[in-house]
Amino acid sequence: MTRTVARKRTASREPSARPAPSTSRSRTASSARLPARALAARRLRPWVDRLRGVRVAVWGDFLLDEYWQCRSTRVSREAPVLVLDYRSRSAEGGGAANAALNLAALGAEVAVVGWVGPDGPGREIRARLVAAGCDVRGLLVHPKAPTVVKTRIVAGDVHTALQQVVRVDRGERFPLAAAQQRLLEAAVRQAVENARGVVLSDYGYDSVTPELSRPWTSAWRRRRVTVGLDARFRLAGYRGITVATPNEGEAAAAAGIGIADDAGLRDAAGRLRQRIAAVHLIVTRARDGPTLWGATRAIALPAWGGEEAVDVTGAGDAVVATVTLALAAGAPALEAAALANVAGSVAVSRRGAVAVTAAELSAALDAGMEH
Ligand SMILES: Nc1ncnc2c1ncn2[C@@H]1O[C@H](COP(=O)(O)OP(=O)(O)OP(=O)(O)O)[C@@H](O)[C@H]1O
Ligand SMILES: [Mg+2]
Repeated sequence: MTRTVARKRTASREPSARPAPSTSRSRTASSARLPARALAARRLRPWVDRLRGVRVAVWGDFLLDEYWQCRSTRVSREAPVLVLDYRSRSAEGGGAANAALNLAALGAEVAVVGWVGPDGPGREIRARLVAAGCDVRGLLVHPKAPTVVKTRIVAGDVHTALQQVVRVDRGERFPLAAAQQRLLEAAVRQAVENARGVVLSDYGYDSVTPELSRPWTSAWRRRRVTVGLDARFRLAGYRGITVATPNEGEAAAAAGIGIADDAGLRDAAGRLRQRIAAVHLIVTRARDGPTLWGATRAIALPAWGGEEAVDVTGAGDAVVATVTLALAAGAPALEAAALANVAGSVAVSRRGAVAVTAAELSAALDAGMEH
């Protein structure tokens, strides 16, 4: 399942002396990986059932991922651009909504906290969360801000796969006047009451910020609530986190260290763990597999699944949801990270941000056991 990259042999608090390899090619030949995968699948499989019924709150930026499916027909005469024929629209919960939908699909009891606008996209997000059984009392309607919508225009010919042509983002940061601040605080208190885990999903729209979360996170940690963090732009401002799951670019930006090689990754991870006082740090590295940094060592996990990624949208949400839920359910950090890695690989094997279900996670592990 894993390769121990480095074991800590000194009293130093640095995560490891020897770094993770930088490419999957340099890591292991696929034949050498197969027995390890079967072993991993056997160890991980029981945890899927233990995730059921664990209460987790999601506080963050709730977005709508919208798709316009189009047929590409010709080049315009007005300008050298494609002319598309609009065919259909679909929409899914994105950002914190996707994290919440992943948690619900894994069997967790989910309560959400965040903002939507008084509009159709906000109602769509709410409907999806309600359909998945989430407690949406904390999904507040902001009177002055529209729901954040990310529209991906995808196009192709009749017999070709649709490709993304352009993405249009709508929405701004949610402004918090005193009245909204009070509403938000009450919603956080209610959602996290009795929760064993909290996912903070910060896409930069100010539903959750380092300043807003800081008074809560240390109190949660004292209550042994698992706090998972996925923050697109300001990871370094957070404190008192159980597990953060940045991708390589986010980790580099937050640490202020470029990650050009393994030494860079190790330095960035060490600095980041100290800065945000995180117990665990998982740096996701797309097809190179995530690296888990704990108190004493760094462990590189090989990517799960051999196929090419179909669509990486939402994989990060699946990772933070799964690792937080697994830790909240009592899984050791390595098992939690490995489960999240499998969930990430299932997420990228499908188009759009589609939640990974417990049945899919089990099926992926069962397939892994056959090797
Ligand atoms: N090409 C791939 N093959 C297999 N697994 C992948 C691939 N790309 C991503 N994953 C899985 O998804 C996880 C998260 O991917 P990535 O490192 O791209 O995060 P991210 O950039 O935060 O994603 P997002 O854009 O959803 O926020 C990885 O740790 C891995 O488990
Ligand atoms: Mg991400």
